[in-house]
Amino acid sequence: MNLSNTKKQRLKAQYGEWAIVTGASSGIGLELATQLAAAGFNLIINARNEERLLKVAQQLKNHKIEVKSVVADLKDKDGVEKMIQSTRGLKIGLLINNAGYGTSGLFVDASLDSEINLLRVNCEAVLVLTHFFAQQFKQQGRGGIIFLSSLVAFQGVPYAANYAASKAYIQSFAEALAVELKPFGVDVLAVAPGPVETGFGQRANMKMDNAMSPDQVGVSILAALGKRTNVVPGLLSKVLTYALRTAPRFMKVKIMEKVMGGFTKHQRSGVG
Ligand SMILES: NC(=O)c1ccc[n+]([C@@H]2O[C@H](COP(=O)([O-])OP(=O)(O)OC[C@H]3O[C@@H](n4cnc5c(N)ncnc54)[C@H](OP(=O)(O)O)[C@@H]3O)[C@@H](O)[C@H]2O)c1
Repeated sequence: MNLSNTKKQRLKAQYGEWAIVTGASSGIGLELATQLAAAGFNLIINARNEERLLKVAQQLKNHKIEVKSVVADLKDKDGVEKMIQSTRGLKIGLLINNAGYGTSGLFVDASLDSEINLLRVNCEAVLVLTHFFAQQFKQQGRGGIIFLSSLVAFQGVPYAANYAASKAYIQSFAEALAVELKPFGVDVLAVAPGPVETGFGQRANMKMDNAMSPDQVGVSILAALGKRTNVVPGLLSKVLTYALRTAPRFMKVKIMEKVMGGFTKHQRSGVG
Protein backbone atom coordinates (compact mmCIF):
# COMPACT_ATOMS: atom_id res chain seq x y z
CA MET A 1 0.00 0.00 0.00
CA ASN A 2 1.11 3.56 -0.68
CA LEU A 3 0.10 6.93 0.73
CA SER A 4 -2.25 8.94 -1.50
CA ASN A 5 -0.92 12.23 -2.85
CA THR A 6 -3.22 14.16 -0.51
CA LYS A 7 -1.86 12.32 2.52
CA LYS A 8 1.72 12.81 1.37
CA GLN A 9 1.13 16.54 0.97
CA ARG A 10 -0.53 16.87 4.38
CA LEU A 11 2.32 15.03 6.13
CA LYS A 12 5.02 17.03 4.36
CA ALA A 13 3.27 20.35 5.06
CA GLN A 14 2.73 19.52 8.75
CA TYR A 15 5.94 17.68 9.63
CA GLY A 16 8.60 18.40 6.95
CA GLU A 17 11.50 18.93 6.14
CA TRP A 18 13.38 16.16 7.98
CA ALA A 19 12.12 13.03 9.71
CA ILE A 20 14.05 10.74 12.06
CA VAL A 21 13.32 7.02 11.95
CA THR A 22 15.14 4.85 14.49
CA GLY A 23 15.49 1.20 13.54
CA ALA A 24 14.91 2.01 9.88
CA SER A 25 16.83 -0.85 8.27
CA SER A 26 14.13 -3.51 8.57
CA GLY A 27 10.46 -4.23 9.20
CA ILE A 28 8.08 -1.47 10.24
CA GLY A 29 10.81 1.21 10.41
CA LEU A 30 11.92 0.45 6.86
CA GLU A 31 8.32 0.64 5.65
CA LEU A 32 7.73 3.99 7.39
CA ALA A 33 11.02 5.41 6.06
CA THR A 34 10.10 4.29 2.53
CA GLN A 35 6.65 5.89 2.70
CA LEU A 36 8.14 9.12 4.06
CA ALA A 37 10.80 9.17 1.33
CA ALA A 38 8.05 8.82 -1.27
CA ALA A 39 6.31 11.78 0.40
CA GLY A 40 9.46 13.88 -0.06
CA PHE A 41 10.85 13.92 3.49
CA ASN A 42 14.60 14.04 4.00
CA LEU A 43 15.53 11.28 6.43
CA ILE A 44 17.84 10.54 9.31
CA ILE A 45 17.84 6.78 9.61
CA ASN A 46 19.39 4.63 12.30
CA ALA A 47 20.27 1.01 13.07
CA ARG A 48 23.28 -0.93 14.39
CA ASN A 49 24.20 -2.94 11.29
CA GLU A 50 26.08 -0.51 9.03
CA GLU A 51 26.00 -2.55 5.83
CA ARG A 52 22.25 -3.03 5.94
CA LEU A 53 21.61 0.60 6.87
CA LEU A 54 23.75 1.95 4.01
CA LYS A 55 21.94 -0.30 1.56
CA VAL A 56 18.61 1.08 2.75
CA ALA A 57 19.97 4.65 2.49
CA GLN A 58 20.85 3.99 -1.17
CA GLN A 59 17.34 2.73 -1.90
CA LEU A 60 15.74 5.72 -0.19
CA LYS A 61 17.88 8.17 -2.17
CA ASN A 62 16.10 6.95 -5.33
CA HIS A 63 13.25 9.20 -4.16
CA LYS A 64 15.55 12.23 -4.72
CA ILE A 65 15.74 13.09 -1.03
CA GLU A 66 18.65 13.60 1.37
CA VAL A 67 19.43 10.72 3.71
CA LYS A 68 21.76 10.71 6.72
CA SER A 69 22.63 7.28 8.10
CA VAL A 70 23.48 7.06 11.79
CA VAL A 71 25.00 3.75 12.81
CA ALA A 72 24.36 3.64 16.55
CA ASP A 73 23.31 1.20 19.22
CA LEU A 74 20.53 2.90 21.16
CA LYS A 75 21.19 0.81 24.25
CA ASP A 76 24.28 3.01 24.77
CA LYS A 77 24.09 6.61 25.97
CA ASP A 78 26.74 7.46 23.34
CA GLY A 79 24.55 5.97 20.61
CA VAL A 80 21.60 8.13 21.61
CA GLU A 81 23.85 11.20 21.84
CA LYS A 82 25.21 10.42 18.34
CA MET A 83 21.62 10.46 17.03
CA ILE A 84 20.97 13.85 18.59
CA GLN A 85 24.26 15.31 17.32
CA SER A 86 23.55 14.09 13.79
CA THR A 87 20.47 16.34 13.61
CA ARG A 88 22.24 19.62 14.47
CA GLY A 89 21.30 22.39 12.04
CA LEU A 90 18.53 20.38 10.37
CA LYS A 91 14.87 21.33 10.42
CA ILE A 92 13.44 18.24 12.12
CA GLY A 93 9.65 17.93 12.09
CA LEU A 94 9.03 14.27 12.81
CA LEU A 95 10.48 11.74 15.23
CA ILE A 96 9.60 8.07 14.83
CA ASN A 97 10.63 6.10 17.90
CA ASN A 98 10.58 2.73 16.20
CA ALA A 99 13.75 0.82 17.16
CA GLY A 100 12.91 -1.90 19.64
CA TYR A 101 12.92 -5.61 20.18
CA GLY A 102 11.43 -8.35 22.30
CA THR A 103 12.59 -11.25 24.42
CA SER A 104 10.58 -14.30 25.33
CA GLY A 105 10.45 -17.26 27.67
CA LEU A 106 10.47 -17.46 31.44
CA PHE A 107 11.78 -14.21 32.90
CA VAL A 108 13.45 -16.07 35.74
CA ASP A 109 15.64 -17.96 33.25
CA ALA A 110 16.57 -14.87 31.21
CA SER A 111 19.89 -13.06 31.27
CA LEU A 112 19.42 -9.98 33.46
CA ASP A 113 21.85 -7.95 31.32
CA SER A 114 19.88 -8.61 28.17
CA GLU A 115 16.59 -7.64 29.88
CA ILE A 116 18.18 -4.39 31.12
CA ASN A 117 19.45 -3.69 27.60
CA LEU A 118 15.91 -4.17 26.29
CA LEU A 119 14.70 -1.44 28.66
CA ARG A 120 17.52 0.85 27.51
CA VAL A 121 16.55 0.51 23.84
CA ASN A 122 12.76 0.25 24.16
CA CYS A 123 12.32 2.86 26.90
CA GLU A 124 15.38 4.90 27.93
CA ALA A 125 16.49 5.84 24.41
CA VAL A 126 12.89 6.77 23.56
CA LEU A 127 12.68 8.91 26.69
CA VAL A 128 15.89 10.80 25.90
CA LEU A 129 15.16 11.37 22.19
CA THR A 130 11.59 12.43 22.93
CA HIS A 131 12.69 14.88 25.61
CA PHE A 132 15.19 16.49 23.24
CA PHE A 133 12.95 16.74 20.18
CA ALA A 134 9.75 17.62 22.06
CA GLN A 135 11.55 20.72 23.35
CA GLN A 136 12.59 21.60 19.80
CA PHE A 137 9.07 20.97 18.45
CA LYS A 138 7.50 23.05 21.24
CA GLN A 139 9.76 25.95 20.32
CA GLN A 140 8.92 25.55 16.62
CA GLY A 141 5.20 25.31 17.38
CA ARG A 142 4.94 22.19 15.20
CA GLY A 143 6.09 18.61 15.00
CA GLY A 144 5.04 14.98 15.25
CA ILE A 145 6.18 12.05 17.39
CA ILE A 146 5.25 8.43 16.68
CA PHE A 147 5.77 5.72 19.30
CA LEU A 148 5.78 1.99 18.56
CA SER A 149 3.72 0.44 21.29
CA SER A 150 2.14 -3.01 20.82
CA LEU A 151 -0.96 -5.07 21.49
CA VAL A 152 1.00 -6.56 24.38
CA ALA A 153 1.02 -3.13 26.10
CA PHE A 154 -2.46 -3.41 27.60
CA GLN A 155 -1.99 -6.22 30.13
CA GLY A 156 0.75 -8.36 31.63
CA VAL A 157 1.99 -10.96 29.16
CA PRO A 158 3.45 -14.18 30.58
CA TYR A 159 6.54 -15.39 28.63
CA ALA A 160 7.18 -11.86 27.33
CA ALA A 161 6.92 -10.14 30.72
CA ASN A 162 9.66 -7.54 30.33
CA TYR A 163 8.94 -6.77 26.67
CA ALA A 164 5.23 -6.25 27.37
CA ALA A 165 6.07 -4.06 30.37
CA SER A 166 8.38 -1.94 28.19
CA LYS A 167 5.52 -1.40 25.72
CA ALA A 168 3.08 -0.56 28.55
CA TYR A 169 5.53 2.22 29.45
CA ILE A 170 5.57 3.45 25.84
CA GLN A 171 1.78 3.35 25.53
CA SER A 172 1.24 5.29 28.75
CA PHE A 173 4.02 7.80 27.98
CA ALA A 174 2.63 8.49 24.50
CA GLU A 175 -0.98 8.90 25.67
CA ALA A 176 0.05 11.46 28.27
CA LEU A 177 2.38 13.39 25.94
CA ALA A 178 -0.36 13.57 23.31
CA VAL A 179 -2.33 15.74 25.75
CA GLU A 180 0.64 17.74 27.09
CA LEU A 181 2.05 18.62 23.67
CA LYS A 182 -1.19 19.32 21.80
CA PRO A 183 -1.37 23.01 22.89
CA PHE A 184 2.11 23.52 21.38
CA GLY A 185 1.08 22.21 17.96
CA VAL A 186 2.87 18.89 18.44
CA ASP A 187 1.02 15.70 17.44
CA VAL A 188 1.73 12.41 19.22
CA LEU A 189 0.63 8.97 18.06
CA ALA A 190 0.83 5.62 19.87
CA VAL A 191 0.84 2.69 17.46
CA ALA A 192 -0.19 -0.73 18.78
CA PRO A 193 0.29 -3.41 16.12
CA GLY A 194 -0.37 -7.09 16.59
CA PRO A 195 2.06 -9.58 15.00
CA VAL A 196 3.92 -8.19 11.97
CA GLU A 197 6.25 -10.32 9.83
CA THR A 198 9.63 -8.62 10.39
CA GLY A 199 12.99 -9.40 11.97
CA PHE A 200 11.24 -9.09 15.35
CA GLY A 201 10.10 -12.72 15.67
CA GLN A 202 13.53 -14.18 15.04
CA ARG A 203 15.27 -11.86 17.50
CA ALA A 204 12.62 -12.43 20.16
CA ASN A 205 12.61 -16.15 19.50
CA MET A 206 8.86 -16.08 18.87
CA LYS A 207 6.97 -17.87 16.14
CA MET A 208 4.01 -15.60 15.49
CA ASP A 209 0.87 -16.83 13.71
CA ASN A 210 -1.24 -14.74 11.34
CA ALA A 211 1.33 -11.96 11.12
CA MET A 212 0.67 -8.97 8.86
CA SER A 213 3.28 -7.65 6.45
CA PRO A 214 4.92 -4.26 7.14
CA ASP A 215 3.26 -2.77 4.05
CA GLN A 216 -0.13 -3.59 5.57
CA VAL A 217 0.57 -1.32 8.54
CA GLY A 218 2.77 1.57 7.30
CA VAL A 219 0.15 3.72 5.54
CA SER A 220 -2.43 3.49 8.33
CA ILE A 221 0.21 4.56 10.86
CA LEU A 222 1.26 7.67 8.92
CA ALA A 223 -2.32 8.53 7.95
CA ALA A 224 -3.34 8.52 11.63
CA LEU A 225 -0.69 11.03 12.73
CA GLY A 226 -2.34 14.37 13.54
CA LYS A 227 -5.81 12.83 13.22
CA ARG A 228 -5.84 10.58 16.30
CA THR A 229 -3.62 9.76 19.24
CA ASN A 230 -3.85 5.95 19.06
CA VAL A 231 -3.90 3.57 16.14
CA VAL A 232 -4.20 -0.20 15.93
CA PRO A 233 -3.06 -0.95 12.39
CA GLY A 234 -4.44 -3.95 10.50
CA LEU A 235 -7.72 -5.80 10.67
CA LEU A 236 -6.49 -8.73 12.78
CA SER A 237 -5.03 -6.40 15.42
CA LYS A 238 -8.31 -4.46 15.54
CA VAL A 239 -10.30 -7.67 16.01
CA LEU A 240 -7.96 -8.83 18.78
CA THR A 241 -8.08 -5.45 20.52
CA TYR A 242 -11.86 -5.20 20.46
CA ALA A 243 -12.24 -8.84 21.53
CA LEU A 244 -10.00 -8.19 24.53
CA ARG A 245 -11.41 -4.77 25.40
CA THR A 246 -14.32 -5.89 27.57
CA ALA A 247 -12.47 -8.74 29.31
CA PRO A 248 -11.38 -8.11 32.92
CA ARG A 249 -7.65 -7.59 33.27
CA PHE A 250 -6.90 -10.97 34.91
CA MET A 251 -8.70 -12.66 32.01
CA LYS A 252 -6.64 -10.71 29.47
CA VAL A 253 -3.49 -11.94 31.19
CA LYS A 254 -4.79 -15.52 30.92
CA ILE A 255 -5.59 -15.08 27.23
CA MET A 256 -2.15 -13.58 26.59
CA GLU A 257 -0.56 -16.49 28.47
CA LYS A 258 -2.14 -18.81 25.90
CA VAL A 259 -1.22 -16.62 22.91
CA MET A 260 2.39 -16.02 23.97
CA GLY A 261 2.73 -19.60 25.22
CA GLY A 262 1.93 -20.65 21.64
CA PHE A 263 4.41 -18.19 20.15
CA THR A 264 7.21 -19.36 22.47
CA LYS A 265 6.35 -23.05 22.95
CA HIS A 266 9.77 -24.30 21.93
CA GLN A 267 11.46 -22.15 24.62
CA ARG A 268 9.35 -23.30 27.54
CA SER A 269 10.02 -26.92 26.70
CA GLY A 270 13.68 -26.09 27.13
CA VAL A 271 14.61 -26.92 23.54
CA GLY A 272 15.37 -23.35 22.33
N1 LIG B 1 6.87 -7.13 14.52
C1 LIG B 1 5.90 -7.15 15.41
O1 LIG B 1 5.13 -8.12 15.52
C2 LIG B 1 5.68 -5.96 16.31
C3 LIG B 1 4.46 -5.83 16.97
C4 LIG B 1 4.25 -4.74 17.80
C5 LIG B 1 5.23 -3.80 17.96
N2 LIG B 1 6.41 -3.93 17.31
C6 LIG B 1 7.45 -2.91 17.53
O2 LIG B 1 7.79 -2.33 16.28
C7 LIG B 1 9.11 -1.80 16.33
C8 LIG B 1 9.87 -2.24 15.09
O3 LIG B 1 10.05 -3.63 15.12
P1 LIG B 1 10.04 -4.56 13.82
O4 LIG B 1 8.98 -5.54 14.04
O5 LIG B 1 10.03 -3.75 12.59
O6 LIG B 1 11.43 -5.31 14.05
P2 LIG B 1 12.73 -5.52 13.13
O7 LIG B 1 12.37 -5.93 11.75
O8 LIG B 1 13.60 -6.42 13.94
O9 LIG B 1 13.39 -4.07 13.06
C9 LIG B 1 14.03 -3.49 14.16
C10 LIG B 1 14.87 -2.32 13.69
O10 LIG B 1 15.48 -1.72 14.84
C11 LIG B 1 16.91 -1.77 14.72
N3 LIG B 1 17.46 -1.98 16.05
C12 LIG B 1 17.32 -3.07 16.84
N4 LIG B 1 18.00 -2.91 17.99
C13 LIG B 1 18.59 -1.68 17.92
C14 LIG B 1 19.43 -0.95 18.79
N5 LIG B 1 19.85 -1.47 19.95
N6 LIG B 1 19.85 0.28 18.40
C15 LIG B 1 19.47 0.79 17.21
N7 LIG B 1 18.67 0.14 16.34
C16 LIG B 1 18.25 -1.09 16.69
C17 LIG B 1 17.18 -2.93 13.75
O11 LIG B 1 18.43 -2.83 13.05
P3 LIG B 1 19.79 -3.46 13.67
O12 LIG B 1 19.48 -4.87 14.07
O13 LIG B 1 20.81 -3.32 12.57
O14 LIG B 1 20.14 -2.60 14.83
C18 LIG B 1 16.03 -2.75 12.78
O15 LIG B 1 16.30 -1.72 11.88
C19 LIG B 1 9.71 -2.29 17.65
O16 LIG B 1 9.66 -1.25 18.60
C20 LIG B 1 8.78 -3.43 18.05
O17 LIG B 1 8.77 -3.63 19.44
C21 LIG B 1 6.67 -4.99 16.48
